[in-house]
Amino acid sequence: MEKLLKTLGPVCAIIGAQWGDEGKGKAIDMLAEHYDVIARAAGGANAGHTIVVKGKKHVFHLLPSGALHPNTTVIVGSGMVLHLPTVLEEIRTLEEAGIDVLPRLFISEEAHILFEFHKDIDAAMEELRAARSGKGIGTTRRGIGPAYMDKAARRGIRMGSLKDDLTKELEARVEQVKHAYGVTVDVALEQKHLAEARKVLAGRVTNTVALLHRLLKEGKTILIEGAQATLLDIDHGTYPYVTSSSTTVAGALQGLGLPPRRLTSCIGVAKAYCTRVGEGEFLTEVTGETGDRLRERGGEYGATTGRPRRCGWLHLPDLRFSADINGYTQWNITKLDVLDEEETIPVGVGVNADGSVKFENLPGWKASTQGVTSFGKLPKNAQGYLTFIEKQTGVPVALTGTGQGREAMIVRE
Ligand code: GDP
Ligand code: IMO
Ligand code: MG
Repeated sequence: MEKLLKTLGPVCAIIGAQWGDEGKGKAIDMLAEHYDVIARAAGGANAGHTIVVKGKKHVFHLLPSGALHPNTTVIVGSGMVLHLPTVLEEIRTLEEAGIDVLPRLFISEEAHILFEFHKDIDAAMEELRAARSGKGIGTTRRGIGPAYMDKAARRGIRMGSLKDDLTKELEARVEQVKHAYGVTVDVALEQKHLAEARKVLAGRVTNTVALLHRLLKEGKTILIEGAQATLLDIDHGTYPYVTSSSTTVAGALQGLGLPPRRLTSCIGVAKAYCTRVGEGEFLTEVTGETGDRLRERGGEYGATTGRPRRCGWLHLPDLRFSADINGYTQWNITKLDVLDEEETIPVGVGVNADGSVKFENLPGWKASTQGVTSFGKLPKNAQGYLTFIEKQTGVPVALTGTGQGREAMIVRE
């Protein structure tokens, strides 16, 4: 681990390479104890990052997953959209688990507040799309798109205004929101949420850009927690079936106000296979018995919405694309153990003349890799699978997940 940490350097980003839920939370949690600061940059409570410690499951939606480590400084960055009751609930849940996050939590004054009406607009827009074309985007209905719409339209309300009386701003929205989406803004409910949040969070809202730069000057190390993933990026993802934020490493740096040259490493997180929730293309998707088997073995149900995830095989062109965009210095290949029972493992490697996906069938290992922590102890074919990914993408596999638990990880220096 020491050697890997040296390679990663003082500012490391963890970025999803596929359509989300790759296991970023677990990687963050594992590395967090070696970093001073854990910072989330973009997105909102559409994220669900799961960590399993001694059999106990923790799911983070807005707070960085590194919060479990008592010595970390926790930053909620400018690029985020925050549903305040969810923030309060996460703080409470951590408190109940004996973790006091509030004194080391810093929330950007530039982050936007995501209101109940944003969630209602999200649902209304999904229903409209479904009525028009038979299907929606399959959003998490957490209000993400509408909150970023307000931000881009320059009528959003930011955390810096939490201390103010926002009655006028909210009342001004009632007619516009009703007119445009048929959604009723419940001003009293929004006010109640604001008042509750003000009590707990007012003292935690600050200029996190200045704070991060001060910490950097003091020589502190920073772990950046990416949310969502590259193929869901608003620009480079499978548009329009994407989220509304910039999910790449560039987006994360922008969302925190960090210059690219400060970044010392970027770990791409990818499952040893692939999943997707919501609508949109998924060239290597498998349905039927095989898809169901992957779903059950991988526990592939959304951490935020509980929706069954669509399952399929690894698609190397996507990994190469993702590595190009983010400049991955290492891979964390997760959930290798989920493939333990497969006879052969198809991997999408390119396209056939007819435009269909070209698969290469790799031999399975038919043995348990559950909880294995060294590369040498993996079955030969499992080693071969990882080496194949390295060769095909030109990025070394530094971390390999072999189970849900914090310790089920192979570290290769
Ligand atoms: P994230 O959004 O990228 O943080 O990922 P999620 O938490 O949404 O989904 C990943 C799921 O896979 C969670 O239930 C994790 O506990 C689980 N997980 C992560 N790594 C591994 C692994 O190596 N093996 C297995 N079996 N499960 C894993
Ligand atoms: P983490 O951080 C998986 C998907 C939704 C939908 C699309 C748009 O846990 O990996 P949105 O609610 O963002 O407008 O939905 O994006 N999506 C995710 N899928 N993991 C996530 O986050 C996701 N965040 C958004 O399912 O297809
Ligand atoms: Mg998730």
